[in-house]
Amino acid sequence: MSRRAPRASIDPDVRKTWLRRALPLVKAHKTLLITSLTLSFAGLIVQVQIPNLVRIGIDDAVVDRSGELTTYVWWIVALALVQGFINYLARLYLLRTAYEMEYDLRNIVYSHLVRMPFGFYDRVQTGELMSRSGSDIRAVQMYLAFGPSILVQCLIAVVAFGLMLSINVPLAIVAMVTMPIIGVLGVSMRKAIFPVSWLIQARLAQLATVVDENIQGVRIVKAFAAEGRQLRSLAESADRIRWAYRQDARIRSRWNPMLDNLPRLGLALVLLVGGLMVIDGHTTVGTIVAFNSYILMLQPPFRMLGMMIMMGQRASASARRIYEILDTPSDVVDGPDPVVVPLRGDLAFEDVVFAYPNGTVALEGLTLRIRPGETVAVVGGTGSGKSTLGRLTARFYDVTSGRVTIDGHDVRDLSLASLREQVGIVPDEPFLFSLSIHDNIAYGKPHASRDDVIAAAVAAGADEFIRNLPEGYDTVVGERGYTLSGGQRQRVAIARALLVNPPILVLDDATSAIDVTVEQMIHSSLRDKMRGRTTLIVAHRLSTISLAERVVLMADGRVIADGTHESLLATEPRYAEVLAAQVTA
Ligand SMILES: Nc1ncnc2c1ncn2[C@@H]1O[C@H](COP(=O)(O)OP(=O)(O)O)[C@@H](O)[C@H]1O
Ligand SMILES: [Mg+2]
Repeated sequence: MSRRAPRASIDPDVRKTWLRRALPLVKAHKTLLITSLTLSFAGLIVQVQIPNLVRIGIDDAVVDRSGELTTYVWWIVALALVQGFINYLARLYLLRTAYEMEYDLRNIVYSHLVRMPFGFYDRVQTGELMSRSGSDIRAVQMYLAFGPSILVQCLIAVVAFGLMLSINVPLAIVAMVTMPIIGVLGVSMRKAIFPVSWLIQARLAQLATVVDENIQGVRIVKAFAAEGRQLRSLAESADRIRWAYRQDARIRSRWNPMLDNLPRLGLALVLLVGGLMVIDGHTTVGTIVAFNSYILMLQPPFRMLGMMIMMGQRASASARRIYEILDTPSDVVDGPDPVVVPLRGDLAFEDVVFAYPNGTVALEGLTLRIRPGETVAVVGGTGSGKSTLGRLTARFYDVTSGRVTIDGHDVRDLSLASLREQVGIVPDEPFLFSLSIHDNIAYGKPHASRDDVIAAAVAAGADEFIRNLPEGYDTVVGERGYTLSGGQRQRVAIARALLVNPPILVLDDATSAIDVTVEQMIHSSLRDKMRGRTTLIVAHRLSTISLAERVVLMADGRVIADGTHESLLATEPRYAEVLAAQVTA
């Protein structure tokens, strides 16, 4: 599948209005847009001729009997066909413009989102972010593509008015008198409806969240027999939506009849004034018929004027939210001269203080040195900062103060891509994609051969269960496939990390869901794999700790003891305490 890079970007100048910032997007597709607008203008010019032809036909062939009626009829049919064809093309191009813009905007937003730092995802709810950005992108795209087209349609009113003036000045003014009123009423109605439609949108999103939580958490809901409580909260949400819809209906039913009836008033006025003029011999019957058509032809664009203002308000709110994402800098980025070197794995934390974006202080002056090839077990109570160590090593976050270095290089000086290639992290709850097992293991090395993938799986103790799956290594797992147990997922994730063969490996509780007996098996191969590799093992079980030659005990974001398992057990009462707590936990 080929992927086209977006043709434009959003103007980064935050002082400009949203529309001006979006202008590069419009400019990138100006050929398409101008083509569609020109076509739609041409179509309207043709369309405006039709009532005029009807007028001449009636006056000439029906009233005066001087012309040939069928000639006029053929001309009118021909013009209608031409107009239909031009409008078809105009619409085709307009939709293409809209989709091209949407494609670009989507790419701009999503490519920015994947470059966002971890801290961003700590703050926002990703599900909401995705669904919201989808509808926001659509709102902006609609306005940028359809707005100009609505303006062109209103512009045609000027042309039609000119034509009517050339036919009969007083009657032209009478016919047009209701148009501005329709415009103003349309705008007022949209203004009244806008807050309510906004409310409806927000409440629908809220309801979607409640439904989503019910489905995601259905096992918990059922386990606590809380169906009734959940249904009540659903009913409350639905109630709020119903109220908003009622308001919406109330406003619409107040304004729509007025908007519908004004053109009829216009028709009546034209009949009255025009009729009197015909009787006095100042105009013709054909003119009345033609002007009636104009009134009907011109009112939709005027009604759409109100819609356009509402679309503009929605687009501006949506654009503001999109820009909020785009304006959030990716603060974990390569330095000016990113260093790319093969790492030996001499890892050091130097007086590291680190707080998460929400302010939680996770490390409070931690100092730790791990030599190349050393295997260290990190032990500590929940929340003592163990997982944070791995995250800072791979520079998912930047330290608040102090330094993290590898082979003497500050991780902030290393190229991010090369750093993350050389630091493998296996989290305790690994994420698997809806891909085959093979592709999941080969995620960090997509061109790996099947043999390499199998070798990694064997080392991670995963080969046996994978072979027993319905389609072996080609079994699709995850959301859209086969469900693996926690321990199986962990083994696939270990295989994924081992395949890349990074000089630094962080196993963050990576075997916590694996049976002790299976774990023993993995350990013997891991011991082999860890030789020559700097390995950090966050561990609870004694069996896991025994893989390491050195144990580091953490509490409150600091290292409080460091030594061999035996020496810590002998000299550090807090070590024994932590171990005891974890055995019973
Ligand atoms: N993404 C996060 N955002 C905010 N605070 C976090 C985040 N992850 C962890 N913390 C907090 O940082 C501290 C250390 O967490 P962590 O390193 O995960 O501990 P451990 O792995 O030892 O259980 C805890 O107080 C935890 O609540
Ligand atoms: Mg942890």
